[in-house]
Amino acid sequence: MKLLVTGGAGFIGSAVVRLAVARGHGVVNLDALTYAACLDNVTPVADSPLYAFEHADIRDRAALDRIFAAHAPDAVMHLAAESHVDRSIDGPGAFIETNVTGTYTLLEAARAYWTAQGRPDSFRFHHISTDEVFGSLGPTGKFTETTPYDPRSPYSASKAASDHLVRAWGETYGLPVLLSNCSNNYGPYHFPEKLVPVVILKALAGQPIPIYGAGDNVRDWLYVEDHADALLRVLTQGTAGRSYNIGGENEATNLDLVHRLCAILDGLRPKATPYADQITFVTDRPGHDKRYAIDPARIRTELGWRPSVTLDEGLRRTVEWYLANEEWWRPLLARDGVGQRLGQIPVQNTPQNTPQNTGAA
Ligand SMILES: NC(=O)c1ccc[n+]([C@@H]2O[C@H](COP(=O)([O-])OP(=O)(O)OC[C@H]3O[C@@H](n4cnc5c(N)ncnc54)[C@H](O)[C@@H]3O)[C@@H](O)[C@H]2O)c1
Repeated sequence: MKLLVTGGAGFIGSAVVRLAVARGHGVVNLDALTYAACLDNVTPVADSPLYAFEHADIRDRAALDRIFAAHAPDAVMHLAAESHVDRSIDGPGAFIETNVTGTYTLLEAARAYWTAQGRPDSFRFHHISTDEVFGSLGPTGKFTETTPYDPRSPYSASKAASDHLVRAWGETYGLPVLLSNCSNNYGPYHFPEKLVPVVILKALAGQPIPIYGAGDNVRDWLYVEDHADALLRVLTQGTAGRSYNIGGENEATNLDLVHRLCAILDGLRPKATPYADQITFVTDRPGHDKRYAIDPARIRTELGWRPSVTLDEGLRRTVEWYLANEEWWRPLLARDGVGQRLGQIPVQNTPQNTPQNTGAA
């Protein structure tokens, strides 16, 4: 199969590219190379005759038309996105432009190409989305494919919008679409602004390890290579028009996750004091969703897929990878905004808290 993978220089997209090439698929990696991209992520396959790279933006219709015509893919796997919730709080516009307008533009280019090909039933447009579109859970319950959408951050709202567009293009135009909504990923090549690499790299640098709020937010963690495997399963065996929730069956609070990472570091890179001593609680993210959890029954029963890596094993592999690949992550720390606290809304002066109304002299 020849796959057009968007966002293939990012974290999950590059795992898809590496796995797809290893399994003998042709892959065209289409990426705009934003701040979050790193072409080194695909070095393991860059010299393969099965691999090609196209530097392009999914909002650029002319570029997309040229790429579809030049490569004639059998399927699109759409992962290109603005993906960091904190950045979406500071600058939602980029999320609307790429995640909504970009997905619309890609859908239209794919529809034109598919129509010109004679509308083959075998074509697939696989949209990769997040469990964050479902909102925030209480202490019990899990997201299923029929959970109503309830996004609460600019990031998740933009992803929800893109999911709706993909479903609409399937219903209205008959484009053979697939959707998948996945829980939090972690693993090698994770950009160092996301929680797991932040913890590892702050710990190694001897700096405070920041935890938002009380650290009691719960996420369902999935090793990125398991996600890539699940995505290829959905693409090749999923039913067009259907969506699949993908989860790790590995729920943990942020605080628990950070303690596990510190314990692994204590074993692999021991120092005089435990890494957990560096844990520091910082102001919470505005609108921070409390809990996400995936019910993976559909992908398990219909497609026979389940994760292969436990959380402890995946975290150990991830820490080992960061210890062995400093030349990968070190230059990324200099990129715009990395290492800074993002996503904090400045407190506005209101009649209640302006100095002249407090009674203070
Ligand atoms: N990271 C997670 O835990 C997670 C979980 C579930 C779903 N997802 C979804 O998976 C996808 C990939 O996530 P990720 O963590 O790998 O993201 P990432 O930020 O690591 O990578 C995104 C990639 O998209 C590219 N890109 C951004 N804007 C583009 C544009 N306009 N045109 C072309 N390329 C562009 C970037 O250059 C980058 O290479 C996203 O759609 C995200 O919403 C992520």
